[in-house]
Amino acid sequence: MTDKRELTEKILALKKQKDACILAHNYQLPEIQDMADFVGDSLGLSQKAGDVKQSLIVFCGVHFMAETASILCPDKKVLLPDPEAGCSLSDSLQFDQLKAWKERYPDAVVVTYVNTSAAVKSLSDYCVTSSNAVKVVDSIPPEKPVLFGPDMFLGAFVARKTGRKNIRLWAGECHVHAAVSPSDIENARSAHPGARFLIHPECGCVTSCMIEAAEKGEDEKTIFSTEGMVREVEKEMGKEYVVATETGIFHRLKKASPASEFYPVSREMECRYMKLITPEKVLNSLENGVYEVKVPEDIRKKAIVPIERMVSIS
Ligand code: 13P
Ligand code: SF4
Repeated sequence: MTDKRELTEKILALKKQKDACILAHNYQLPEIQDMADFVGDSLGLSQKAGDVKQSLIVFCGVHFMAETASILCPDKKVLLPDPEAGCSLSDSLQFDQLKAWKERYPDAVVVTYVNTSAAVKSLSDYCVTSSNAVKVVDSIPPEKPVLFGPDMFLGAFVARKTGRKNIRLWAGECHVHAAVSPSDIENARSAHPGARFLIHPECGCVTSCMIEAAEKGEDEKTIFSTEGMVREVEKEMGKEYVVATETGIFHRLKKASPASEFYPVSREMECRYMKLITPEKVLNSLENGVYEVKVPEDIRKKAIVPIERMVSIS
């Protein structure tokens, strides 16, 4: 087996030779983040994909993210190093299910989280990510009913923040975030009484955390997208943080503020799909041009509309 440094050097040389750009999500393994040209959250990666100059994108993330890159850059080849890197949240709302839901509420505006397939996006009016969901929903005329999917916890967060009563939520969830319960938060609070909490809006505890934060007058200071967490820590460089999101974020947080201590709210918060991407698979991807993710043109043309609306509002 090639040693780690040799492997990284090989990847970087091949990346140059093949005119490739490596994009990585905040949940990727530290060694993948370190070799990437850009590391970010779903919104940042969508924005970056549109600006990439290279002809090849190696997407270190999950399938729907590579599809988003393919939608935004149809002239580029997009590779996902492991074709099994899916997303339980994206799987929780399928094309036929959304089609049937829309038929029941024909006047509704359809807002879907970016964690959805290109086919689901092609049926949507707006896309959102965890960093812009409130802003996007707020931009929809208040009298218009909204169908929001697939993440019910993010949806509940958006409904509460916007004060909208005419928003219907799809009962989907991410298996990693849904497992965080209010008792996990309580336990972490007693173990780290001085720490600040950073919670992703996909977490199962998000409603109770919002209520508690609102009661303490800390409404704006607890719930963040992955990139929002990094920005907050960079700005504040506090002493201790308890973090409720996938463990890959710790690498970025530690880089943002090396002197701070970061504690996971639960050590179980690992996304098995994100962790399928390894340096060996990135090398294989570059060497053999696999596994290409290409969205068919008829779906792409429709799916790009909600993504562009989202990016223009963000
Ligand atoms: P972010 O948009 O905050 O990066 O979240 C993406 C994701 O998959 C969360 O599980
Ligand atoms: Fe999907 Fe959850 Fe993994 Fe994010 S953490 S990619 S939402 S399964």
